[in-house]
Amino acid sequence: MATPRLEGIEACVFDAYGTLFDVNAAAQHCAAELGDSWQPLAELWRGRQLQYTWLRTLMGAYVDFWQVTGEALDFAMEALGLSDNALRQRLMDLYLQLDAYPEVAQVLRELQAGGMKTAILSNGSPKMLQAAVDNAGIGGDLDAVISVDQLRAYKTVPAVYQLAVDELSIAPGAISFQSSNAWDAHAGSHFGFKVVWVNRFGQARERLPGDPDVETDSLRDLPAIVGVAG
Ligand code: LAC
Repeated sequence: MATPRLEGIEACVFDAYGTLFDVNAAAQHCAAELGDSWQPLAELWRGRQLQYTWLRTLMGAYVDFWQVTGEALDFAMEALGLSDNALRQRLMDLYLQLDAYPEVAQVLRELQAGGMKTAILSNGSPKMLQAAVDNAGIGGDLDAVISVDQLRAYKTVPAVYQLAVDELSIAPGAISFQSSNAWDAHAGSHFGFKVVWVNRFGQARERLPGDPDVETDSLRDLPAIVGVAG
């Protein structure tokens, strides 16, 4: 199949967790301690983490993503009958150094070499994003790392997506937004970005406003999709 193309793109903006960084990696690295529970823990942790961002935004009760991540972990551990402070600490420490997906560094480099602006737009707190970027060694491949923290509201509030437009001074229609989180891909499209839904886990399409322009299973083809020679 021919690679789909997005025309007129000047910047590629990336969601962080699940898109550039493997959110399951923290629990997976503790598989020796957790046994078969590592996967249910990873799923419950991530699920509650996202729900808490939406609910807190609706409640007008923002706290940063580090606190949300810790509270979601506390819920997930209690739900699975895990009570172990050292393990909790280890999981939180690992969250600061999540593995980047294997294609990420090369793709960012190709995009920048081809004249594209590159940025992260994430719920992550500035401290968390800095740690993840440093750990992956991709700081030099990014023009901006944008956290929702300055707005004290989480995705899918449209003003969050506007942060990237303001920071890069590029119109939404000239920005290709990449997210593995389908709900985030829909929200970015609804906002006005061109969107590549990086459907890493073969999930069904969400029934939400917005219509991602391209669906892929990794970021590998992104340079070709936005017209940067590989
Ligand atoms: C983020 C979450 C949604 O990085 O993955 O914004």
